[in-house]
Amino acid sequence: MKNILVISYSQSGQLDEILDNFLTPFKDFEIDRVKIEPKQAYPFPWSSEVFFDAMPETVLEEPIELAPFQLQRGKYDLIIIGYQPWFLSPSQPATALLKDPSFRSVLKDTPVATVIGARNMWLNSQGSVVREVEEAGGYMVANIPYIDKVQNHVSAFTILHWMLTGKKTKKWGIFPVPGVSQHDIDNAAVYSIPLAEAVEKGDYKNVQEKILEMGDIRIPSSIMLIEARGKKLFVIWANLIKRKGKTAEKRAFWVSFFKWYLVTALFVISPPILIIHTILKPLMLRSIKKTREKYLYLGINKN
Ligand SMILES: Cc1cc2nc3c(=O)[nH]c(=O)nc-3n(C[C@H](O)[C@H](O)[C@H](O)COP(=O)(O)O)c2cc1C
Repeated sequence: MKNILVISYSQSGQLDEILDNFLTPFKDFEIDRVKIEPKQAYPFPWSSEVFFDAMPETVLEEPIELAPFQLQRGKYDLIIIGYQPWFLSPSQPATALLKDPSFRSVLKDTPVATVIGARNMWLNSQGSVVREVEEAGGYMVANIPYIDKVQNHVSAFTILHWMLTGKKTKKWGIFPVPGVSQHDIDNAAVYSIPLAEAVEKGDYKNVQEKILEMGDIRIPSSIMLIEARGKKLFVIWANLIKRKGKTAEKRAFWVSFFKWYLVTALFVISPPILIIHTILKPLMLRSIKKTREKYLYLGINKN
């Protein structure tokens, strides 16, 4: 019998629901299902101040304290990590998990698959997760990102409605429901069938390729463009806020400054850049394809 560790964090329960469905093809395996929690829970709904105040430590990937958790074994045939990006970085609980010594010891020499429940920007965060997994001696075999597939500005607007009210509902009755679509959540297992088959055989060759063939895993080129610079700019902001925000009042001022910068960058600066990008896209198809491939296979050995 194969032993699988499925370890994750979900604040609203969205990623839990994705994982519950994702795991249906694994019913004949021994599953150790661990849900981690921060020692001090985040507010849900978030207030705007607390939401943006989480940025510096998230981006600088500083580990928070987790509530104690227990793993049943010291070794697994496969580890599935379920996480979500926050500010283009692994969420704070995910970072804490990846830096936890007991978790790092089970990662050693173990195949790892990641299941992501994001808005649509997970590329930089996956880079960090892969780096941590590899540093701990594990190796990536698959990555299945579930995203909100509506247009970027629309999903940015609707996710803020969800996060700041706690309601995963249509804003003003006209905007789409935020987050990963219920259709994609209900059909999450489409992508896990090749992974379950690979665990059974103990052979992960081409598993990511088979997962990608199953359907509709997308990385819009506009998202690659934003992520190419986004994280570097966030690191500059994070260090600035930490340097300048030595008192609560000063920090609140700089966090608010960052919030307005982000809103301006997203809704004022990025639209004309994206129009130019769309016009020039036909000239960049080869490099876009190459970059997309790179992210779809981050850390995964293709041979
Ligand atoms: C503080 C914060 C920052 C977020 N930043 C991002 C991000 O950079 N990229 C992204 O795709 N989604 C982002 N999201 C959305 C989350 O990745 C996730 O999809 C959402 O919070 C639901 O996850 P849950 O299962 O933990 O409730 C953010 C959410 C929060 C709370």
